[in-house]
Amino acid sequence: MMARSMVSIILISALFLLTLAALAFVALVFVSLLASSLAGAPYIGMRNQYIDALLSLGGVSVEDVVCDLGCGDGRVLIAALERRRARRAVGYEISLWPFLKVVLKRYFSRFRSRLEVRRKNLLEADLSEVTIVYMYLYPLLVQRAALKINESARPGTRVVSVHYSVDLEAVPNFRLLKTAQLGSMTAYVYEIARY
Ligand SMILES: C[S@@+](CC[C@H](N)C(=O)[O-])C[C@H]1O[C@@H](n2cnc3c(N)ncnc32)[C@H](O)[C@@H]1O
Repeated sequence: MMARSMVSIILISALFLLTLAALAFVALVFVSLLASSLAGAPYIGMRNQYIDALLSLGGVSVEDVVCDLGCGDGRVLIAALERRRARRAVGYEISLWPFLKVVLKRYFSRFRSRLEVRRKNLLEADLSEVTIVYMYLYPLLVQRAALKINESARPGTRVVSVHYSVDLEAVPNFRLLKTAQLGSMTAYVYEIARY
């Protein structure tokens, strides 16, 4: 009798803890989604089927330092390191849930010494050594990021923006190199003017 009630107490406690953990997880994902939406773009990972095409469009090679502004779970950065042997990859992510995912993925990656992720607003990114910027954001944030890139990226830096183009009138250093269709999305490839 005594043993039975002990078992019941343990089971109920375990169930209670599991429910608490599940609720905490749902709250983390919900708050993160809200935070990323408020910051300018919700967390939606790029479809894996398009990542190779994006890396080709940007011309990612062993000499490049690739930066993903709003890197989500880091899938584009990790692909740039794994499949293109990029020299380095740097990601900025504001939202906690995708940031935790990219930190975990980085931990288990063979390329972790070449992957850097920062939990920071992308508008404060350090672009001084970056050669390719990738962004998959909403229009207002694309434009704000473009202003930042226009001011601080090195001449010759390539910029790949998925889904939304940059208003070229506001960013005099941007040159449109090409566009490509990825399913229903358009990718825009720019270069920062070389003087
Ligand atoms: C559409 S997702 C793209 C994720 C990733 N780049 C990819 O292609 O798989 C946009 C990401 O930008 C992040 N984000 C939105 N505003 C941001 C900001 N101001 N600073 C840093 N990250 C931001 C969101 O949290 C989200 O993870």
